[in-house]
Amino acid sequence: MPHQTSILRASSSASNPASRLSIISGHLTGAQPSSNTSNNLSTSPTQSRNISSSPSFNMSSQPEHPTLLIPGPIEFDDAVLQSMSHYSESHVGPGFVATFGETLSMLRKLFQTTASDSQPFVISGSGTLGWDIVAANLVEPGENVLVLSTGYFSDAFADCLKVYGASVDTLKASVGSRPQLPEIEKALKSKKYKMVTVTHVDTSTGVLSELQKLSEMVKSVSPDTLLIVDGVCSVASENIEFDAWELDGVVTASQKAIGCPAGLSISMFSGKAMDAFRARKSPPATYFASMKNWTAIMQNYEAKKPSYFATPSPQLIHALHTALSQILAKPLSERFAKHREFSDKVKKAVTELGLKQVASNPDDQAHGMTAMYLPDSVKATDLLPKLFKSGVIFAGGIHREIAAKYVRFGHMGVSVTDPARSDVDKAINALKNGLSDCGYQKA
Ligand SMILES: Cc1ncc(COP(=O)(O)O)c(C=O)c1O
Repeated sequence: MPHQTSILRASSSASNPASRLSIISGHLTGAQPSSNTSNNLSTSPTQSRNISSSPSFNMSSQPEHPTLLIPGPIEFDDAVLQSMSHYSESHVGPGFVATFGETLSMLRKLFQTTASDSQPFVISGSGTLGWDIVAANLVEPGENVLVLSTGYFSDAFADCLKVYGASVDTLKASVGSRPQLPEIEKALKSKKYKMVTVTHVDTSTGVLSELQKLSEMVKSVSPDTLLIVDGVCSVASENIEFDAWELDGVVTASQKAIGCPAGLSISMFSGKAMDAFRARKSPPATYFASMKNWTAIMQNYEAKKPSYFATPSPQLIHALHTALSQILAKPLSERFAKHREFSDKVKKAVTELGLKQVASNPDDQAHGMTAMYLPDSVKATDLLPKLFKSGVIFAGGIHREIAAKYVRFGHMGVSVTDPARSDVDKAINALKNGLSDCGYQKA
């Protein structure tokens, strides 16, 4: 079916707290099968760390556990986890300040920015905090924002913008597609927008948005408009060239393709975005998420000078430092090629099984995850526990229009970059067997 896009004011699927809760609880039921049969779930790090000979578990020094192949959080490398066991140190002591400073400098490399006025931020919080940072600092109440929606997370970003008083228009594509350039251009010509937001990969649909051409068009039609990217499900699995593509902001989180435990909001803003913040007429309606409070702190850390606004998490910063060091040890192009290679493998297997992807156009399919429709005869609540018994965890659906009809497979980070792991093959086999155990035969 050709894509359909509609422009909406105000309400969105994520805006009703009750519906949000029910979607999330559906998602959790899917991701954590209620059977809860495996006693591995309750294994704690203090319990024995035996390396299993079972094909279901190929972890190294980590306790046996099913392989987490949801679209974030993802599996961790041992060294990343171990760096969290760092002894306690002062958050303003020279050792930690150096680690934080190097972490911020490494982020510039991950985002492919060398512009001296680009500003990285690493703040304790989850990916959602990135939305608050954008909404509270870069838009003033009453200013217009155009949200390009490819699913649940795009809509939730719109909700966050509204909380801070933005006047939001949502250009919403039909499920599985994305708004097209001509209609975005038309919207930009019809009204002056302070900002356009785009979700690079909407984790609810696995739809990948095209950033480079979008940015070129936004710059030519409305050069003052800021282009802000939600890269929570794309940074470190999809190529993002912050400078070359003239992006104004990318917000992400630690727990997806970066491969660090959850708990850090990570973002990069352009000099133009920082100027827009400095030109505000009203102060931002936030304290913790205020760029006013954090900018100097980040600049000081990067210059290896102690500084304090609110206590960072040294252990998480150590983990992020290790994860970024590993990522940057090889050319980024190799990393993105690996994600594409494994994504192709998963998508081929899904097609061979006779299943369709939620993201219908191959050009719009993410490389770090696959959202697939289930056969009519198979329920996610039947399939997911079977996968779990095979040592694999997938996520249930989260997009309210199709929630019960699909599942999501995350293939990011060490699961695709570590040649010692066979997570993806294991998951493909588990999927084949699980579908067959549910009585499904390809027609
Ligand atoms: C695309 C996208 N944006 C934002 C978020 C929110 O991030 P968090 O759950 O870390 O707050 C998520 C979470 O999965 C996401 O996938």
